[in-house]
Amino acid sequence: MSDKVQFFDTTLRDGEQCPGASMNLRQKLEVARQLEKLGVDVIEAGFPCISDGDFDAVYTIARTIKNCRIAGLARCVENDIRKAAAAVAPAGDRGRIHVFLATSPLHREFKLKKSKEEILQMAVEGVKLAKSLVSDVEFSAEDASRTEHDYLAQVVEAVIAAGATTVNIPDTVGFTTPSEYYTIIKYLKDNVKNIDDAVISVHCHNDIGMAVANSLAAVQAGARQVEGTINGIGERAGNTAIEECAMALSTRPEAFGFAPGEKPHNLNTREIVKTSRVVSRMSGMVVQRSKAIVGENAFAHSSGIHQHGILAKRETYEIIDPVEVGWGETELPLTKHSGRAAVKARLEKLGHTLSNDELTHVFERFKKVGDSKKFVYDDDLSSIVDDSLSTSNGVWQLKSIQFIAGSAALPTATVTLVKDDEEYTDCAIGNGPVNACFKAIDRITQAAGELVDYNVRATSIGQDALGEVSVKVHFGDCDDCNAKPVSGKGAATDVIEASARAYLNAVNRNITFNQLGI
Ligand code: KIV
Ligand code: ZN
Repeated sequence: MSDKVQFFDTTLRDGEQCPGASMNLRQKLEVARQLEKLGVDVIEAGFPCISDGDFDAVYTIARTIKNCRIAGLARCVENDIRKAAAAVAPAGDRGRIHVFLATSPLHREFKLKKSKEEILQMAVEGVKLAKSLVSDVEFSAEDASRTEHDYLAQVVEAVIAAGATTVNIPDTVGFTTPSEYYTIIKYLKDNVKNIDDAVISVHCHNDIGMAVANSLAAVQAGARQVEGTINGIGERAGNTAIEECAMALSTRPEAFGFAPGEKPHNLNTREIVKTSRVVSRMSGMVVQRSKAIVGENAFAHSSGIHQHGILAKRETYEIIDPVEVGWGETELPLTKHSGRAAVKARLEKLGHTLSNDELTHVFERFKKVGDSKKFVYDDDLSSIVDDSLSTSNGVWQLKSIQFIAGSAALPTATVTLVKDDEEYTDCAIGNGPVNACFKAIDRITQAAGELVDYNVRATSIGQDALGEVSVKVHFGDCDDCNAKPVSGKGAATDVIEASARAYLNAVNRNITFNQLGI
């Protein structure tokens, strides 16, 4: 085992647990392909026993991805572990089963209602079963940071003896601090006699904004696997942002115990920005402009003093060369004259692997967009991909939309949708043209959605920019706080049409989720 820090990416499992971030199989595959290009060591592709959709995603990713380990999550119970083994099987000896069981007093007493001895026995049996099915087994002591140190050490020693090759020490509720987490990892290194037979892994949540700092403190103490997600998406306040953690290690290797100039991890950092964009598009989770490394403002210097300094010597105000994380590699925009081959080549560069049929849909839409705007930029193209693939796969397709709006008009929309080659038209009034469109769509599809979030952004520059709309919609009983909102995206040069496309995308995704029982 190299001394480098291994990155375990859980964007497709813990990241996807983030409300509104659910992805379909195509979206998960695109993310997995891009994670492979980024060079993460492990992709946790899902929780196979949770649904058929999750099983399929893990299985398909295990069959497709060739250069990363593929992990499937399992509780410490036989059915979960066997399902995880079956799902990661296509990855051969790159398949990993990740079993977890809570160890903290709170979880033992109130959630599991089990004694310390019973938990220890379950953990050992779970790991032994997993080990009989695959050689690569990770054990996570859920809520480890709130577990008694001596008991945690006892569990860690027992699971390593039972065959775990990675032991994960999660800060499940984002409770710990850097110095405290350092102490826990150091304690395990000093007190678990077989600790060198496994890799120590850390998994932090960001509830008080310390996930990256905690993960890095653990690396200083000797952890050699960091779990996290791209853009830090995840349950509640999210997980450790892999791009931030990786760039902290690359920028300051000596601060974390590596020799100056030593490469502390295996990531190809020039793929970071592209990966961030793929995850944002596929999950519908917009990246905050000021987000470190991948936010649009991360390298934008607006003050005159800074601009002057940068021009004189970049390092005066920039600790990372933006090119090193993949910023600034723009190419000439496409136009309506660009051919199918040029569009296909650009899509591949942007990380979109499309089938022939999918390319046909995208190319048709590209031509339509090209007619209404002079240049089609890379971000426009990515929006076109999201928009046309989500529409072409959906039960309902948008045929046309017409609306009346204005300060003296009653906002009214007439929408025509197509389902199974049959056209359906209806109209509605609303408090604005967007609202009227959504109501007309509801009348046709019987969806009864309630909009909980709405964002619009221009994907490129100029007055003819494509407007990309992201929505989150609650379907069904809104008093049911467990029902996750469904996200949708749409793009068009007209923002009302983009809004209708986004809303319809959410309606279609909701239908698919209901069919899959998600
Ligand atoms: O936060 C957590 O403890 C987890 C485990 C399943 C690793 O996500
Ligand atoms: Zn987690």
